[in-house]
Amino acid sequence: MARVFILWNEKYNTGIQEIDDQHKKLIKILNSLYESFVDRTTNEKLKEVVQEMAKYTEYHFGVEEKYFKEFNYSAADEHIAEHQTFVQNVKTFQEDMEQGKVSVTFQLMNFLRSWLIEHINGTDRRYISLFKEKGL
Ligand SMILES: [Fe+2]
Repeated sequence: MARVFILWNEKYNTGIQEIDDQHKKLIKILNSLYESFVDRTTNEKLKEVVQEMAKYTEYHFGVEEKYFKEFNYSAADEHIAEHQTFVQNVKTFQEDMEQGKVSVTFQLMNFLRSWLIEHINGTDRRYISLFKEKGL
């Protein structure tokens, strides 16, 4: 049975279908990373899932940032800065993992979960009214 690390909660919904679908997919990838981690899978497999998470996260941030530009979102700079810090942290982790210095830990999993949930529940909520106003 799949081990659920993050359960989707209705309160995470932004009401913007495209964004909610992407957030759900991110949570799905984090759940599969968690599953691979607790199942003590190989480092190669863990690297693959981390890579999948990194790629999908960057894709998702890109979608949000495209709308920020299109809609002239006033809080774009600080939001993009949060994205960039996260991407940089994940990149550093991947490099360290590549060199065999670190692997997936509960601490990392907790960091990823907290970051994502806090970002969805906090920073992301601020663009909802604008995105809806623009027809999303
Ligand atoms: Fe965001």
